[in-house]
Amino acid sequence: MRTLLAALALALGPGAALAAPAAPAAGKTSITWYGHAAFVVTTPGGTVLAIDPFFQNPRSPDPKAGETLPRIDYVLVTHGHGDHVGDAIAIGKRTGAKLIASFDLCKALVNAGYPAAQAGYATCGNIGGTIQAGDAEVTMVPAVHSSSFGDQPGAAEEGHPLGFLIRVKGGPTIYHTGDTDVTMDMKLIPERWGPVDVMLACIGGHFTMDPRGAALAATFVGARTVIPMHYQTYPVLSGTPAELERALAALHSRARVRVLVPGAPTAF
Ligand code: NI
Ligand code: MN
Repeated sequence: MRTLLAALALALGPGAALAAPAAPAAGKTSITWYGHAAFVVTTPGGTVLAIDPFFQNPRSPDPKAGETLPRIDYVLVTHGHGDHVGDAIAIGKRTGAKLIASFDLCKALVNAGYPAAQAGYATCGNIGGTIQAGDAEVTMVPAVHSSSFGDQPGAAEEGHPLGFLIRVKGGPTIYHTGDTDVTMDMKLIPERWGPVDVMLACIGGHFTMDPRGAALAATFVGARTVIPMHYQTYPVLSGTPAELERALAALHSRARVRVLVPGAPTAF
């Protein structure tokens, strides 16, 4: 596949975007994992969402994706830590993408260079708020973690960390947990917004929930499919998908674990 793509890139000439996720099949939503907590979601209507775009993480299939992806409409950042903000500012400048984040983190990122016109009231909100993003609705839900960005004075706290619930029109409901432990609040997610089809769940432990915590979280949310993330990027994030599967089995969960191949668009 890689060889085929390389040949295609050669045929198309320099500048052909190798890593551009293919347009999803009609009516489908495509999810591409870039390692760690970074995902690109393309909706049936063609809206492109980049979530926690740390494309330069050690497991990234394409560290230059932030410079080459041809279209990004919205950049979603769960919290201010560098392994989640990633290339957000450069992407905002290059693509014109609007920033979806907490109001406080939006301010911090604008201070650091994110174009202010793309980070206003239309897309910056807070927990409980819903942002219209093309043919998707993005609701900000709580995460239990911390959030700081940069080293400038006053940057100690940059808003509450978030998860994102992305309801795609005619497509799946996707829950990106952000960095968090399992919380009782997760039970409110299906109660308030309906079933979760795909849960992008951190499982690495140390800074977030571990596989057992993530399995419990999946049962709270009622997720049909769980895609593990935020593991094995660094040695300290030691959780594994196999541990997640065992923990789900121990809870008699019917959720299916789906390990995405970094860089490979997957239809949902
Ligand atoms: Ni974090
Ligand atoms: Mn993190």
